[in-house]
Amino acid sequence: MYTSFINGLGHYVPENRVTNDDLSQWMETSDEWIRERTGIEERRFAVKGEDTTTSMGVKAAKVAIERSTVSKDDIDFIIFATLSPDYYFPGPGVLVQRDLEIGTVGALDVRNQCSGFVYALSVADQFIRSGMYKNILVIGSELHSHGLDMTTRGRSVSVIFGDGAGAAVVSRSDSDQSQILSSHLHSEGQHAEELALIAPGMGKRWVSDILADNDPNDVSYMPYMNGQFVFKHAVVRFAEVIHEGLSHNGLSTEDIDMLIPHQANLRIAQFIQKKFKLSDDQVHNNIMKYGNTTAASIPIALTEAWELGKIKRGDLVVLAAFGSGFTWGSVIMRF
Ligand code: COA
Repeated sequence: MYTSFINGLGHYVPENRVTNDDLSQWMETSDEWIRERTGIEERRFAVKGEDTTTSMGVKAAKVAIERSTVSKDDIDFIIFATLSPDYYFPGPGVLVQRDLEIGTVGALDVRNQCSGFVYALSVADQFIRSGMYKNILVIGSELHSHGLDMTTRGRSVSVIFGDGAGAAVVSRSDSDQSQILSSHLHSEGQHAEELALIAPGMGKRWVSDILADNDPNDVSYMPYMNGQFVFKHAVVRFAEVIHEGLSHNGLSTEDIDMLIPHQANLRIAQFIQKKFKLSDDQVHNNIMKYGNTTAASIPIALTEAWELGKIKRGDLVVLAAFGSGFTWGSVIMRF
């Protein structure tokens, strides 16, 4: 049986910074409310026409490939996680294959929202374990800002999210010191509508219906989140799935060198840190700067932690995510 490791990491965020005070010019909110509830101080919003989910993913991917031991021509598969694709179909995976001019390798799109990168990494790991592929490009990228309700009506959702992308080259490992040990994935679809964007979709509403109704109060094409319900489930599931991963490997929370939690809300990350009695050096958060970038949040934070020298080869790194679906998961690795 083969194993896989993270061979290269990269991230990209648009230059355009949007502070909490900027948001308060468009909706009734305040810097104090946003900081207190979420920890977010600013986020990046792509400028229309300059970036797309795919283009940000491609920029992050180029950095990850550059920093890896392989070249783009060695990539034998692409996995792209996002909830904000450029097109309804095809997904961004094939657009990356086109833009990077990577042969005719397969491209898979993962739709698991905030857990997207953890799911995508797990899929990459399984393909490498089976021997099918050697080098897989895994991308998480989101362009939220163009799809948010920037009026007071949407404020409980819109202040949280930001744009950005992260990428990893996942390769076959030849060292016990550096390998993904396990991944654990879960879902609970009974809560699907508690954090969702219902339209456009074939199931309920299609664009023509929305346009025909011309109803300014129709919010089915805006993201909806039952914030407190999500919060309560997130803290339980994060803790469960981290424990599940650690105990599967005979490890305990003291063994963690770095926990990278999905950057949903600083209060959730702090709750988990306290519960596990982890020091500030053992958890990396950057939601203050970028907001919640959904599928991009873990690869951005992982890249940043590595760039800052907070993680090095051989460290026990734990990734954990929770989000819409509900879906959640963890990856345990020797970095
Ligand atoms: N600015 C100012 N006031 C706001 C606001 C904003 N951006 N958003 C909501 N409010 C108001 C509400 O209207 C409400 O007012 P009311 O009491 O007069 O009715 C009040 O603030 C409290 O709203 P509530 O939704 O109960 O706030 P909260 O304490 O639950 O915080 C979240 C909201 C979204 C920050 C919080 O629930 C949360 O972080 N949930 C988890 C979200 C998450 O992690 N999502 C991603 C999952 S991957």
